[in-house]
Amino acid sequence: MNNTWKIADDVIYVGASDRRLALFENIYPIERGVSYNSYVVLDEKTVLMDTADHSVSREFLGNVEAALSGRPLDYLVVNHMEPDHCAVIAEIVLRYPDVKIVGNQKTIQMIKQFYTFDVDSRAHIVKDGDTLTTGKHTFAFVFAPMVHWPEVMVAFDTSNGFLFSADAFGTFGALAGNLYADELDFEGEWLDDARRYYINIVGKYGVQVMNTLKKAAALPIKMILPLHGPIWRENIGWFISKYQTWASYVPEEKGLLIVYSSIYGNTANAVELLGAKCAEKGVKNIHIYDASKTDVSVLVSECFRYSTIVFASPTYNAEVFPKMEMLLIELKAHAFQNRDVALIENGTWALSAGRKMTEMLSAMKDIRIISPLLSIKSSLKDEQLGAVEEMAEALSKSVNG
Ligand code: FEO
Repeated sequence: MNNTWKIADDVIYVGASDRRLALFENIYPIERGVSYNSYVVLDEKTVLMDTADHSVSREFLGNVEAALSGRPLDYLVVNHMEPDHCAVIAEIVLRYPDVKIVGNQKTIQMIKQFYTFDVDSRAHIVKDGDTLTTGKHTFAFVFAPMVHWPEVMVAFDTSNGFLFSADAFGTFGALAGNLYADELDFEGEWLDDARRYYINIVGKYGVQVMNTLKKAAALPIKMILPLHGPIWRENIGWFISKYQTWASYVPEEKGLLIVYSSIYGNTANAVELLGAKCAEKGVKNIHIYDASKTDVSVLVSECFRYSTIVFASPTYNAEVFPKMEMLLIELKAHAFQNRDVALIENGTWALSAGRKMTEMLSAMKDIRIISPLLSIKSSLKDEQLGAVEEMAEALSKSVNG
């Protein structure tokens, strides 16, 4: 039995969700699953907007067949060539051999890298700003390089204001019948995954995302149809403003994030005390994470979220504890910047975690260390309470100042 949704009389959702996959891109945990969205437009010519991942290919192909109701497929638009959306291209070509594949030069090159079927005879190459008219519908192609790959483009249907936005405005999370963000508690149940998706997948490319948002601002968008997660038809400006915040590397919330590594609990004890002292000084929205217990993709996302961050790590093999080191490497890789930061180190003999963390953070842009390094020798002592208070004061000023 097929499972298609009518979005408009002539626009059909043919995607599918995967709740079995543990790691998206074999790296990001997705406890809530993920959807691979795809859309058929029925016009004088028929159009398929991207394909899907291998894991849902059986459902996807059945959905496409059902949506077409015996009609041939005239165009496959490839907005993005990452395999979570292009895995079924060869199967589509086998089933619909006369299909024209719409993409830009880079897209066509990538199809040839992934596949050996005859691409050139089917290629319909578009440039930035080109349009394709299929009858009632005209699709304008707007290039969106690095959101998330260099070949990415989005397709704007000028007849109805539908923006087929590729990965942009996507999120982790399987769909469960409700296809639209306004049918869900998006802010309560989805926003954390949307942020984690954005930051980890395209967080490095804020400049390119802002360029795409500027292009999109000129379009009379009525609906955003991404390749993952729910469709947006209400409150679109709210979600776009989240993207603007994330892409410009400004904190989303005033708040204090404390991330620590702790081997035997002494560093953990120190940060719990620091959290309490900050609360005494009026800091609200305090969050403490153990870097060994929390996936690094969550930590990276939370670092982008809050205004003020404490990193606390033991010295381990004369280096930063590996889980904390991984977080700092990932932050650098995602162009993390523009935050107030304080550091705590611990060690029983030669303390070096503080110096190493400082070096790693100094390689990032506009990271402001706002308090002297708190060095703990094995465990925090009463005589260090003043240093904890001093750090709490600086953190309070950062969050509330
Ligand atoms: Fe959902 Fe970049 O692929």
